[in-house]
Amino acid sequence: PTPSSTIRASSSSSTIIAEPEGIKIISIPTKPIQGQKTGTSGLRKKVKVFQQENYLANWIQALFNSLPPEDYKNGLLALGGDGRYFNREAAQIIIKIAAGNGVGKILVGKEGILSTPAVSAVIRKRKANGGFIMSASHNPGGPEYDWGIKFNYSSGQPAPESITDKIYGNTLSISEIRIADIPDVDLSNVGVTKFGSFSVEVIDPVSDYLELLESVFDFHLIKGLISRSDFRFIFDAMHAVTGAYAKPIFVDELGASLDSITNGIPLEDFGHGHPDPNLTYAKDLVNILYAENGPDFGAASDGDGDRNMILGRSFFVTPSDSVALIAANASETIPYFKTGVKGLARSMPTSGALDRVAQKLNLPFFEVPTGWKFFGNLMDAGNLSICGEESFGTGSDHIREKDGIWAVLAWLSIIAYRNKDTKPGEKLISVSDVVKEHWATYGRNFFSRYDYEECESEGANKMIEYLRERVSKSKAGDKYGSYVLQFADDFTYTDPVDGSVVSKQGVRFVFTDGSRIIYRLSGTGSAGATVRVYIEQFEADVSKHDLDAQVALKPLIDLALSVSKLKDFTGREEPTVIT
Ligand code: G6P
Ligand code: ZN
Repeated sequence: PTPSSTIRASSSSSTIIAEPEGIKIISIPTKPIQGQKTGTSGLRKKVKVFQQENYLANWIQALFNSLPPEDYKNGLLALGGDGRYFNREAAQIIIKIAAGNGVGKILVGKEGILSTPAVSAVIRKRKANGGFIMSASHNPGGPEYDWGIKFNYSSGQPAPESITDKIYGNTLSISEIRIADIPDVDLSNVGVTKFGSFSVEVIDPVSDYLELLESVFDFHLIKGLISRSDFRFIFDAMHAVTGAYAKPIFVDELGASLDSITNGIPLEDFGHGHPDPNLTYAKDLVNILYAENGPDFGAASDGDGDRNMILGRSFFVTPSDSVALIAANASETIPYFKTGVKGLARSMPTSGALDRVAQKLNLPFFEVPTGWKFFGNLMDAGNLSICGEESFGTGSDHIREKDGIWAVLAWLSIIAYRNKDTKPGEKLISVSDVVKEHWATYGRNFFSRYDYEECESEGANKMIEYLRERVSKSKAGDKYGSYVLQFADDFTYTDPVDGSVVSKQGVRFVFTDGSRIIYRLSGTGSAGATVRVYIEQFEADVSKHDLDAQVALKPLIDLALSVSKLKDFTGREEPTVIT
């Protein structure tokens, strides 16, 4: 057997360094590769980059070099991914290097499939030391597109920056890869394969995750809604990983019809799609929901199954509103929260709708930087139950990742609960009814995000520098058109659990009426720079709640573009995506 082709392994330079119980472990000399620094969630590059000799192998070895030995020697690790191109080859490389470094056992999803939330669930249930997720999330897949790798720790949460920084450091000094000389493992059948003291168990990707969801939600309640003839449900798996989960969960368990699942087969290139559930990239679903007499409820999830989009008939629920609604209704509608909600949290650019729920329910509340990893400590410390981000991520402490299908089930629970007593023939309480009622109670936080994808890095960086300079010169009371500045800063977060500090997490201008403009560079792209501008304004007046967000926010959006000189710095007239 030869190590996979993307590992340089000339037999003259590799040496056998150990033969524990029958498996040969080979040391392959390697050289550092520049640029293997992880972003918001893991290492993401074009497939072609990962296919370069030793590129993936170096990073995996650097990871093992960064972990304390007790975190993996003879230990149990999970492995899975979103089904994208290069996952199959990558899985074999990861398995061999894990064995080469003394890992005891790998649990791998059948065909290499496991959604990000499922990996988190598997790690927790099986008490694994951690796990690998092969995914570039919502980025397109295929030979010309993106690949990515993330490592999660034993509570199922993404590795903290202290570890990812160490990995990066080790990629710059790496000199050998330790790899087991074993054949490729057949991932197409569930079962255990042993290689001496090392073993690989291929597991069903759905069962652990489904079992967990069944313990969180009242499936009977949801089934009651889905099986109504006057409720029409549609789920778009975007040819990504939730295709493997949608039928077993929505159809087999909850009684949805088979044709309510669209794009339900995971494909290596996501059917040439961009598996990001938002108004631009899930346009087909949006069109179905906005068509005359469309379905009552629509949802989609992204490449690796952690993001979600929720739609009612002719109605889009913003992610910021979604988490607020779920939080406000959780203890009544979701059994997992019956014993109480410990606390709520959102990422900094996410709208303040959740803050109002926390205030009203008198719950601890946290504002963290963009990135799901920042919620984990709060959950582990027992301070946080439900959280969300504007970037279509919503979840809870049932795992340590955001969870697309969880969010869909949470919404179905709310709609089902509200319609418990709606008789056949009566009008159902709809998604938009529930959201509008929420706004009437709490007020509406109008929110929009403008994305400028794949800008020249230089211009984008200069714009942020320019904004930081503006921040340093600004003071409370400064006038910005009709808005008066309360403060401006570059967000810094101190983790209340471990005291770690992260800075430069987004430039924000906060005005005295609570309106906010925030600028960030995305940490998840694989080429150039993506500029994100977040705009938010609170409206208490119910008579204005039906306004379109773009109309309501127009003055603030114009201000955001002029304050940043965005067009001058990026050369962009229009955003690539508006949410
Ligand atoms: C991933 C992370 C999220 C984050 C999102 C956007 O999905 O898991 O936590 O909010 O990316 O990050 P970005 O840096 O691209 O704005
Ligand atoms: Zn994702």
